[in-house]
Formats: sequence, C-alpha cells, structure tokens
Amino acid sequence: MIKSYIWSLPTRVFHWLFALLILAAFLTDDDKLLHYHAVIGYGVLILLTFRLVWGYLGPKYSKFKDFPFGFDKVKAFMLSIFNNEQKYIGHNPPASYVMLGMFIVVFIVIATGALTFGIQEGKGIFSFLNDSFFKKMELFEKLHEFFANLLIVLIVAHLGGILTDKLLHGKQETLQSIFTGYKVTQEKSSITLSLFQKFIAFVFFVALLAFLIFNMIQPKNILVASKYQSIDYMALNEVFVNECGSCHTLYPPHSLPKHSWISMMNDLENHFGDDASLEEEDHENILNFLVQNSAETSTQEMSFKISQSIGNNDIIAITDTNFWKHEHKNIPKKVFEHTQVKSKANCKVCHSDIEKGLIEDDKIKNINAFL
Ligand code: HEC
Ligand code: HEC
Repeated sequence: MIKSYIWSLPTRVFHWLFALLILAAFLTDDDKLLHYHAVIGYGVLILLTFRLVWGYLGPKYSKFKDFPFGFDKVKAFMLSIFNNEQKYIGHNPPASYVMLGMFIVVFIVIATGALTFGIQEGKGIFSFLNDSFFKKMELFEKLHEFFANLLIVLIVAHLGGILTDKLLHGKQETLQSIFTGYKVTQEKSSITLSLFQKFIAFVFFVALLAFLIFNMIQPKNILVASKYQSIDYMALNEVFVNECGSCHTLYPPHSLPKHSWISMMNDLENHFGDDASLEEEDHENILNFLVQNSAETSTQEMSFKISQSIGNNDIIAITDTNFWKHEHKNIPKKVFEHTQVKSKANCKVCHSDIEKGLIEDDKIKNINAFL
C-alpha cells in the first residue's frame, strides 16, 4: 500500500475554515446577528480569494488545471463507479464540478449579500446604492437566498459524493485525506510546497486573522457602518415629542405613510380608545411634521416595507401591517404580555434606538429576557 501526500496543510486549513465560516454564516442568518453575518461573509471572501490564487499558484491537485473536467470524463467515471480501483488522485470528475460550482456560487452569495446589506440595510461598502435601488431591496434579498439555497444543494452533493466514495472506493481513504493530507494511491505521487507557496498561504492566513481581529476592535468600520444617522426629534420638533411621546413610544414620522398619518390625525378624539386631541395650532404643526417626514420620504427598510404593506388600505397602526406581523411572528405571545412590555406597540423596550428614528439590528433586545 502506497500513501501519497496530496493535500498540503494550506489546502486542508482552507477547507476546514471555509466549511466552518459557511456554517457560521448559516447560523447567523437572523436580523439580530446580521452584523456578524456580514463580517463572516467578508471573511469567506478572503478565503475564496486565497483559493482562487491557490488554484493557479498552488501545488498539484489543488490547481484548477489538475481538476479533471470534461463530460466524457464524468461519463467514464460514472460507468466505472463500482470499480474500486480509481485512477484519480485529486478530485474525481464529478467532484471537480461540485468544487467549481461551490466556489462560483459562494462568490455570488457574497456579492448578492453585500448588495442586499447595502441596498436594504444601508450598510457597508454598497450603502451608497441604497438611495437609487431601495425599491428593489427585496429582489436582492431573494437572489441572495436563492443562491444560498443552491449552495446547500451543492453541499449536500459534496457530502453525498464523500459518502458514495467511502462506500465504493473506501480503500483510497479520500475522507481521511482531508484530515491527514494522505491518500492511498497506486504510485507514489506526493507533493511538496515551494517557499513561495508557503509564503502565499502564510500571507492569506495572517490577512484573515488580521481581518477578524480588526472587526473585533473596530466593530463600526466601513464594511458594516450604517449610512443612517440618528435623529434628534427634540431638536427638530419639541411639540411633536411632548405630545406624541407622552403616552407611548415616539413613533418616527417615517414609520407610517402620509395617508395613514392624515387619517390618524383626523380622529385624535378616538385614538386607540384614548382622547389624544390637540390645540389647533399644535395639531397643524404635528400633522405637517408627520406628513413632511412620512415613510415616503425615507429609503429605510422599515419605511419602505411598512408603506408597501399598507398600500392604499386604511391602516394607522404599524402593528397592524403584515410586514410588522411577519417580522415578529417568531416572538411568543407571552413576551408581549410580560409586565415590562405590556403591548406590541411598546417598540422602545425592544428597539432602544427607535425614538432616534432607527431600527438597528444590534440594538434589538434579546427577547429571552421576557420569557
Ligand atoms: C393620551 C395618550 C396618547 C397620546 C397623547 C397619543 N397616543 Fe398614540 N396611542 C395611544 C394608545 C393607548 C395607543 C394604543 C397602543 C397599544 O396598542 O398598546 C396608541 C397607538 C398609537 C399608534 C399605533 C401603534 C401601533 O400599534 O403600531 C400610533 C402610530 C400612534 N399612537 C401615534 C400617535 C401620535 C402621532 C400621537 C401624537 C399626535 C399620539 N399617538 C398621541 C395613546 C396616545
Ligand atoms: C418584545 C420585543 C419587541 C417589540 C415590542 C417590538 N419588536 Fe420589533 N423586533 C423584535 C425582534 C426580536 C426582532 C428581530 C426578529 C428576528 O430577527 O427574528 C424585531 C424586528 C423588527 C424589525 C425588522 C428589523 C430588521 O432589521 O429587519 C422592525 C422594522 C421592527 N422590529 C419594528 C418594530 C416596531 C415599529 C415596533 C413597535 C410598533 C416593534 N418592532 C416592537 C422585538 C420587538
């Protein structure tokens, strides 16, 4: 039995970091964790860049030109799949396609993710596109999800391939090779790394590490920073703050469309069971302020989606919109009944920045506090 060293340390470390970070990306697919999700995405991009460089400058078997591509090869491989003597030392033909597919799809997932982050959340390097494309925010999110699902299909294909290989060609020790680097081969076919290759791998490893450390000490950097500034309503309109923030959360004017505000302001005597009526002058002032800063004037996700959800319907409560219900559907009823929450409309207990006109993901309170 001959054992050949075919996967160098950088190749194996890449493989496991790639798997780990992609798993972490799936686990942080949650509004509250979006910041981490984005940082992980950029981290995967560093790994992917390394793999691209490695595909040209790396050792044999890791180089793309050593991937046995070609449908004739796939066909021949499939026809002899039950033969336990296989000639391929690196990836076999179908595996080569799955690997290439994964690299391409991961790249698209990162690109659409960064675009969604910029366009929908107004964050990161593409936040400048929010103004022009916010009406298309859902399209980018859908694309991102579609390709993330395609990635799951490829991961399943990869795991399925390993299992098949384990069952049919177990003595080649392919599965073990990604841990040890060694495969059982017919002839001695080991690789060694040149000093230059070691240097490339080292540089990328340090870059990834530096990137992760940088994000820990500088969490508000340009890759994740938001374009939205907090709004000081007290400075803008004191009457609005005093009148509309006395009984409940001060709902930002951009949290409802114009026609909802007009409709609500027309009937302040019967305001959700309370009389919230105002002096004529204050009424005029607040109505103008609400209309001038209504959801239509904002490119924030909340404004756009609430407006879209209300459409032309006569809805005056944010909590009555399908958007709001959808965003909070996983929160158990008893959380809203908790003595510190009391009402769904008590946004500020869970979104400490809402009275500054923001709904930042990292400001969302962990609802376990109310369970
Ligand atoms: C006298 C107390 C009072 C005042 C003053 C008042 N509100 Fe309200 N408002 C309420 C109550 C009570 C509710 C229902 C809250 C709930 O469902 O828990 C409500 C609900 C709302 C909601 C709907 C929240 C949701 O469920 O999405 C909006 C929007 C709102 N108020 C805006 C205003 C504005 C704008 C003003 C200022 C013109 C104002 N309120 C002044 C008592 C008041
Ligand atoms: C009991 C706590 C709680 C209350 C009260 C609450 N929210 Fe939320 N909200 C959450 C949580 C938790 C999430 C994140 C849900 C998730 O990621 O699954 C969320 C998500 C959101 C989002 C989506 C954020 C994003 O970035 O996608 C918006 C917008 C929002 N809430 C607005 C409001 C408004 C407006 C109110 C008041 C009318 C409100 N919420 C009341 C807990 C609350």
